[in-house]
Amino acid sequence: MSKTKTYYQCQSCGHASPKWLGKCPDCGSWNSFVEEKSVPPGRRTSGIDTLGKTAPVALGAIDTVSESRTPTGLQEFDRVLGGGVVPGSVVLVGGDPGIGKSTLLLQTFSGLSKKSGKLLYVSGEESPRQIKMRADRLTVNADNIILLPETSLEGILDTAAKLSPEAMVVDSIQTVYTQEMLSAPGSVGQVRECSAKLMLFAKRSGIPVFIVGHVTKEGTIAGPRVLEHIVDTVLYFEGDRGHSYRILRTMKNRFGSTNEIGVFEMSDAGLREVDNPSELFLSERPRNVSGSAVVASLEGTRPLMVEVQALVSQTNFGMPRRTSIGVDFNRVNLLVAVLEKRAGLHLGGMDIFVNVVGGLKIMEPAVDLGIVATVSSSVREVPVDPRTCVFGEVGLSGEVRAVAQAEARLREAAKIGFKKAIVPAGNAEKIKNDQGLEIMGVRDVEACIEAVLS
Ligand code: TYD
Ligand code: MG
Repeated sequence: MSKTKTYYQCQSCGHASPKWLGKCPDCGSWNSFVEEKSVPPGRRTSGIDTLGKTAPVALGAIDTVSESRTPTGLQEFDRVLGGGVVPGSVVLVGGDPGIGKSTLLLQTFSGLSKKSGKLLYVSGEESPRQIKMRADRLTVNADNIILLPETSLEGILDTAAKLSPEAMVVDSIQTVYTQEMLSAPGSVGQVRECSAKLMLFAKRSGIPVFIVGHVTKEGTIAGPRVLEHIVDTVLYFEGDRGHSYRILRTMKNRFGSTNEIGVFEMSDAGLREVDNPSELFLSERPRNVSGSAVVASLEGTRPLMVEVQALVSQTNFGMPRRTSIGVDFNRVNLLVAVLEKRAGLHLGGMDIFVNVVGGLKIMEPAVDLGIVATVSSSVREVPVDPRTCVFGEVGLSGEVRAVAQAEARLREAAKIGFKKAIVPAGNAEKIKNDQGLEIMGVRDVEACIEAVLS
């Protein structure tokens, strides 16, 4: 085997060195050196041998093959993928260790193996026996799944090329190394190089590749998001260790929407799909306690009823504390300022904590009215009626603005058993089908507080 020469390069200024350095002598940044493959002079390509081999094509001249997507058998997973597995796509499944990434992919393979040929599961973390034990627990359809305990990328690609499977999993990218680099598996250089080669393999062979990536302490997959722009689809598997449900979220998708989520529940027989997540997130809601309101929110195309809680109490320190979990911190501060100025609530000397129940994160503006409702409920110590839900965006002058897809939100609310919805007046005028709910349109935060706390 010919030994490829490598060098180390500072990722912030590009300074090159034959040896690894802790601090860049040029720009002074720390820990920025990453191993790179040196390219022989005159061959400056990204390792893809396309030099002079590709011809330009007119966009109109490309015939559209209708994308053939293979359903995985897990509807929630298909949803986040945009309808199924696309041939030749590379999907990165990221998440904290122990969250259930291997379980999810094994179950996906179980579903896929019912319809297609051989599937290759490469594991650098677990022995075949460990995987078999898990497969038995999950009652996986095991006939078509081939296990490969291998960490050398060259070996993996070799086997994959010979076997030509219908799909392939690499669990995890942090354990795989290419012989062309000297650095340890899991280092930025290795992870980048290995994923680039897997991508090339997927594109050439048309075999879809799932890559498992652990999230580092900084919350990124192996360093500064090196993987995310290489692959086609980035999914994050999230969840709280203390809770049994898991959320699969799309961060990037070249073949579908990026707003979709899939909801699963971890049981003793593996991941179970949750058809009705709203019920799950509302199941432990306290009744007749102040500082809790339900927002009819929308995740992608999917309406989701979520509980937003607030705790407002007199501060014991000079500086009041403001904390938000699951909603944007600046958004909470802004709404608190609006409540003070436009609704006359005295929040200046108060600690305010806002929390979205169940570890969910809601980034859409329709949650504004929920925060307004729950904060004012906590201040006034008046509970919000448990069968009332809210949604709407709040502007700086205290006006309540209309939001998209009001009817989809109301449909979900009615399905869960809500009786009343407090919505922006702009939405209330246009709603044709109120799903049997009592709809109350509000124009400003004062009207909202009045409606919620009466
Ligand atoms: P795993 O898929 O190994 O996580 P990852 O690959 O993301 O590191 O999941 C491991 C966790 O899931 C482990 O804590 C046990 C739990 N689990 C169950 O609760 N039920 C099951 O049926 C399985 C297979 C795992
Ligand atoms: Mg694992």
